[in-house]
Amino acid sequence: MRIPSLVIGDLKAAIPIVQGGMGVGISRSGLAGAVANCGGIGVISSVQIGFDDPDFEKNSEAANQRALRKHIRRAKEISPNGIIGLNIMVAVNNYDATARIAVEEGIDLIISGAGLPMSLPGLVEGSNTKIAPIVSSGKAAKVICKMWDKKHNRIPDLIVVEGPEAGGHLGYSLDDLNNDNKDLAQIVIEVIEEIKPYEEKYGRKIPVVAGGGVYTGKDVAKYLKLGAAGVQIATRFIATEECDADIKYKMEYLKCKKEDIEIVVSPVGMPGRAIKNVFMKNIKKKSENEKISRCYNCLKPCNPKDTPYCISKALINSVNGNVDQGLLFTGSNGYRLNKIVKVKDLIDEIITECEKEAE
Ligand SMILES: Cc1cc2nc3c(=O)[nH]c(=O)nc-3n(C[C@H](O)[C@H](O)[C@H](O)COP(=O)(O)O)c2cc1C
Repeated sequence: MRIPSLVIGDLKAAIPIVQGGMGVGISRSGLAGAVANCGGIGVISSVQIGFDDPDFEKNSEAANQRALRKHIRRAKEISPNGIIGLNIMVAVNNYDATARIAVEEGIDLIISGAGLPMSLPGLVEGSNTKIAPIVSSGKAAKVICKMWDKKHNRIPDLIVVEGPEAGGHLGYSLDDLNNDNKDLAQIVIEVIEEIKPYEEKYGRKIPVVAGGGVYTGKDVAKYLKLGAAGVQIATRFIATEECDADIKYKMEYLKCKKEDIEIVVSPVGMPGRAIKNVFMKNIKKKSENEKISRCYNCLKPCNPKDTPYCISKALINSVNGNVDQGLLFTGSNGYRLNKIVKVKDLIDEIITECEKEAE
């Protein structure tokens, strides 16, 4: 099938692929800029983005803010005509300040999940920054449209539907995940249905992109045929030269087998998907929680007094290549990665495969 462009208001991505934001530090300016350069939408993850700033241990908030500006500018330098987005999790403590800085820096798009981004329209008011919630059900899409319409006279510019095969924190109960109760295709159809009244009211389409387990061009064609305007892909981009993580981090995915991927409960109480590595095995063996000597005050639902480990520290260890002390988030297809390629070659492969599929 012919690959369509992804139109979000006055933005037009030649390739309907949004690279999913990956924290901590897995998608910064290097990966986002490379994806944007190929015509997709490159997404920087905001969470603890300043982890390698010399001042991070002393003043993480200031370090993160500096790094955020730096990486938005750098991504735009790498891809002056490309589309750059920022992923901000609703669960982070400094949500409003992060969004405001991104708007000041002229970010094209803010994508927000891990909670309902109710305040987001107010934070971008008066700017040209587009806004996109991440949802895991038709119900969540409807609630967001209803609240944004009522309070802000606005609807989303894009909706990302994240299914149960995604990596990182997941918007499902353990029961749904263990029993395969949910299916991305079904949720995409539900979301498209639920947003129709709002599209009619505002006289415009809300493009919906499908993410979580999208791996091949055939997968992309499947969701386009269902009515999605594009896809969000994250895990596949880990095995690229431009991915911002240490090579030792990338190698863990190349080594990983299907049975090494499991659902874990992160310290913030949400289920997530990760590789069962040395770190994860040690956490399970421990009967006592880790003593947290330094709290980065990152996520609202985390209490340093009763968390089994510090998720910021575990993710920073990972991106730095300290993989045996690190948490390795992955989508369910992480075990299929078998070589490190250039972003351009990966995108070309996906497009060629997608175009081979019949209409
Ligand atoms: C290593 C990793 C880190 C992630 N970090 C974030 C994040 O910081 N914020 C977020 O909203 N989603 C995060 N995600 C979810 C992705 O953005 C994406 O929606 C999802 O993984 C798509 O599924 P796929 O990985 O199967 O392509 C992460 C995923 C991975 C694999």
